Amino acid sequence: MKNKIIAGNWKMNKTRAEAESLIRELVPLVAHTPNTVVICVPFTDIYTAVELTRGTNIHVGAQNCHWKESGAYTGEIAPSMLVEAGVEYVVIGHSERRTYFGETDATVLARTKAALAAGLKPIVCIGETLAERQDGRMEEVLTRQVTEGFRDISAEELKHITVAYEPVWAIGTGVTATDEQANDAIRYVRGIFAAKYGKEAADRLYIQYGGSMNDGNAKGLLAMSDVDGGLIGGASLVASKFAAIVHAHE
Ligand code: PGA
Repeated sequence: MKNKIIAGNWKMNKTRAEAESLIRELVPLVAHTPNTVVICVPFTDIYTAVELTRGTNIHVGAQNCHWKESGAYTGEIAPSMLVEAGVEYVVIGHSERRTYFGETDATVLARTKAALAAGLKPIVCIGETLAERQDGRMEEVLTRQVTEGFRDISAEELKHITVAYEPVWAIGTGVTATDEQANDAIRYVRGIFAAKYGKEAADRLYIQYGGSMNDGNAKGLLAMSDVDGGLIGGASLVASKFAAIVHAHE
């Protein structure tokens, strides 16, 4: 059986001092788990996070990276800069990036390729909006996001990628997908990958659920056969809550 990958997505939260106290509290709480623990922090917290998690089981991630190695891209960060800073994972294509910052399947693919080339492990986010689900277009949207967003990702590259299925209607809303909704959608997504990369590669692929996962609902969600972990926003900002999710399924 696979272990779970539990990743906190801090989004635009935590000053350096706040990051320090959260991480100091978190380290002993998650020290003993078979699950993989990742915290995806703001760029300005990376140095602190890398220093404070050295020698622990907590992996550090960023929340975005650019597709170019350097150049006139004001406000962007190159994958190699993240690697140099000690970052291992990077969230790509989060729905907030897609909604507020013009991220498309094409830019998601470009960023993912660049992250992989630099040796980062991308956590690539997909998911339908409420309107798309209500219109009966969930499968169409997920198929498009995987087809376009992974267009020239090789089978070898896929081994280094984690996918996060995050229905947009469940993100930060307090409305969680039911255990069955999450599992059904992830199973559908896995099927799309199986059609392209084969069943073995699709079974090996980690597909997380994200969207209002918390210490109350994590046990049920993570017990589902296709749910390989969680990408956790709000509940990752409190050490005890995030630790409870890390330990919810071991
Ligand atoms: P949430 O965010 O847990 O606060 O809903 C999840 C995410 O956006 O990754």
